[in-house]
Amino acid sequence: MSKISVIGAGGRVGSSCVRNIAEILGKNGNENTKNTIAMIDIPQALNLMKGMAIDIKDAVMNDVEIFVSDNRADIIESDIIVITAGKPRGPGMTREQLLSENAAIIKVIAEDIAKFSPDSKVIVVSNPLDIMSYVAYTTMHKISNKTSKEIMGMGGVLDSMRYRKFIAEVFNCGLKDVSGAIVLGIHGEGMVPIESTVRLKRSKIKEEDKEKLDEAVKKTTSAGKTIADFGASAYFAPGVAVAKMVNAIIKDTKEILPCSVFANGNYGINDDLFVGLPVRIGKDGVEEIADLKISDEEKVKIKSAAEILKDNLTQIK
Ligand SMILES: NC(=O)c1ccc[n+]([C@@H]2O[C@H](COP(=O)([O-])OP(=O)(O)OC[C@H]3O[C@@H](n4cnc5c(N)ncnc54)[C@H](O)[C@@H]3O)[C@@H](O)[C@H]2O)c1
Repeated sequence: MSKISVIGAGGRVGSSCVRNIAEILGKNGNENTKNTIAMIDIPQALNLMKGMAIDIKDAVMNDVEIFVSDNRADIIESDIIVITAGKPRGPGMTREQLLSENAAIIKVIAEDIAKFSPDSKVIVVSNPLDIMSYVAYTTMHKISNKTSKEIMGMGGVLDSMRYRKFIAEVFNCGLKDVSGAIVLGIHGEGMVPIESTVRLKRSKIKEEDKEKLDEAVKKTTSAGKTIADFGASAYFAPGVAVAKMVNAIIKDTKEILPCSVFANGNYGINDDLFVGLPVRIGKDGVEEIADLKISDEEKVKIKSAAEILKDNLTQIK
C-alpha cells in the first residue's frame, strides 16, 4: 500500500500529477489494499480540489483512494511527497522576485514535511527548480537531518521527453528510433541537452547530421517559452514526467532518470547546490549518480551550469 501526497494539487501541474500518479497507483491496488493520494493545497483551493478529485477518479476508473485537504498535517506517513506549490512568473515580475516568493512558500512546506512526514521521498517541481530543490533539502536537513538522497527535483525528465520528441521531428523518424536523449544541468535557460549519447536506430549521429541535432537542441531549450508565448503553460507533460519518477521509486525500478540532485563531487561539482544529473532512482530515492560517457565539452557545460546556480543561490543564502 502506498500513499503519495501532492502539495499544490489544486493547481495545473499538481492536478496533472495527481491524474497520472492515480493511473500508476490504481494498477497496484485492489479493494483490500487501496493506495492513497492526498491532494493538499490552501483553503481557497479546497472546493476546486473536491471537484477535481471526482473528475480524476472518473477518468482513471480504478481502486485508488483520493482525498483532499487544506491541512498539511494530512501528508502524514506519505511514501512520496510531490511539491508543485508556488507561483508562476506573472507579468512584470522579475525572476528574483519569483525566486524569493517561491522560496518562502517551499520553506514553509518543507518545514511541515520534516515535522509530519520526515521519512518521505520528496519530488520538487516548483520553479526555479534547482534552487527550490535546494531550499527544500536544506530546510528539511536542518530540522530532521534528512539526507540529500531523499530529495529530487523534476526538470530533466520533462526536458528529455521534449528533446527526444524534437530529435524524432527533425530527423523525421519515429520516437522509438530515438534513444539516449538526456538533458542535464539547469532546468531553465542553462539546460545542457547531451548530444554524445543520442542514438538513431542505435547508431551515433553522423557528422553531416550535426546541424539537425543542433536544431533539436534549440527547440528543446526554448520549449517552455514556446508554450508560454501561446498564452498557455505546461502541465500535461510535467504530470507525466513526475509520474515516471514516482513509478521508479514505488516499483524500485532503478532506472536512470535525469533529476536535480545534490552533486556530492560527481561530474567535478563539489558545491553546495542541486543540479540536473543522471540518477539511478529506486525505493530509497537517489540510489546513485550515474557516470555517463559524455564528451569533455559537455562536462564543462554541466560545471558551468553549476556555477550559474551557485550564483543564483547567493540571492537566498
Ligand atoms: N519543474 C518543471 O518541469 C515545471 C513545469 C511546469 C511548471 N512548473 C512550476 O510548477 C509550479 C506550479 O505551476 P502551476 O502552473 O501548477 O501553478 P498554479 O498557480 O496553477 O498552481 C500552484 C498551486 O500552488 C498552491 N499553493 C500556493 N501556496 C501554497 C502553500 N503554501 N501550500 C499549498 N499549496 C500552495 C496554489 O494555491 C495553487 O493551487 C510553478 O512554480 C511552475 O513554475 C515546473
